[in-house]
Amino acid sequence: MNTRELQDRIIEMKKKNDVCILAHAYQSQDIWEVADFIGDSFALSKKAAATPQKTIVMSGVRFMAETCKTLSPDKKVILANPVAGCPMAMEMNREDVLKMQEENPGYATVAYINTTAELKTAVNVVVTSSSAVKIIRALPDKNILFIPDPNLGDWVQKQCPEKNFKFYNGGCPTHMRTGSSDVKRMRAAHPDALLLVHPECRPSVVEMADYVGSTTGIMKYAGESDASQFIIGTEASIVQHLQFQYPDKQFYLLSENCVCYNMKMTTLMDVYNAVAGKGGEEIVLPEEVITLSRKPIDRMIQLGG
Ligand code: 13P
Ligand code: SF4
Repeated sequence: MNTRELQDRIIEMKKKNDVCILAHAYQSQDIWEVADFIGDSFALSKKAAATPQKTIVMSGVRFMAETCKTLSPDKKVILANPVAGCPMAMEMNREDVLKMQEENPGYATVAYINTTAELKTAVNVVVTSSSAVKIIRALPDKNILFIPDPNLGDWVQKQCPEKNFKFYNGGCPTHMRTGSSDVKRMRAAHPDALLLVHPECRPSVVEMADYVGSTTGIMKYAGESDASQFIIGTEASIVQHLQFQYPDKQFYLLSENCVCYNMKMTTLMDVYNAVAGKGGEEIVLPEEVITLSRKPIDRMIQLGG
């Protein structure tokens, strides 16, 4: 079977089996082409709560499938490749959060969505890269414990100077593999290109960017911009997607090290097996975890708009 035939089978089977395929923007082009919805973490969360199908196949990483399950507890949620986890989401557990809260009384805990469902049961609100600034500005609290990504936190802090922040020493290993020397090298090689980066990059990279935003924010900016050349400071797949969408523009990856091996785990064949009901992992969460983690996620959707 070739890619095209496999895609046709998936499309046929998902209709027959009443399955919705959600894919994160970092998934590969062959998976994008069979997905019902592609988006950044915030858009995927909103979609997860609104899909009419009884089964959701998540092509992404584990915390995304957990968020889906929390928002749609009556649906069957399948993570297409059970091995695909997010290293950042594994940096901190619920006990670490409780300890940080004990050491910092009077702080509201704001968790990046890239955390486990269990951790989310201990926090006040969840944010994504595209909703963090809006949500934190809307919070009545002045003191914010921002976990686990201090790079995203730094970017948010600069836009919310009226708040006090404390950070955890975590971060995304993929984006942290880029640095200011990559920016200098790539700017010298492509002097007319605009630099578009994800806020999970180090502050030294973010400070030099022409645009900072989520995965879909970066794609939207590149599409709407009059510029024709762009250096992309996020996961490598976005360069490929941009090339497909805007073949007349040029896209260069900020660093060849900006590859998320976990996002690359899921293959089209994994999606096929999950849709066919013979692969992937059904996400099962204790009822208490669903109830308690839903509150900060619902708050995110309400405040994030
Ligand atoms: P967003 O698409 O929400 O910006 O997320 C980036 C990311 O690293 C997801 O794991
Ligand atoms: Fe996690 Fe970073 Fe990979 Fe996103 S890109 S899944 S935050 S390791």
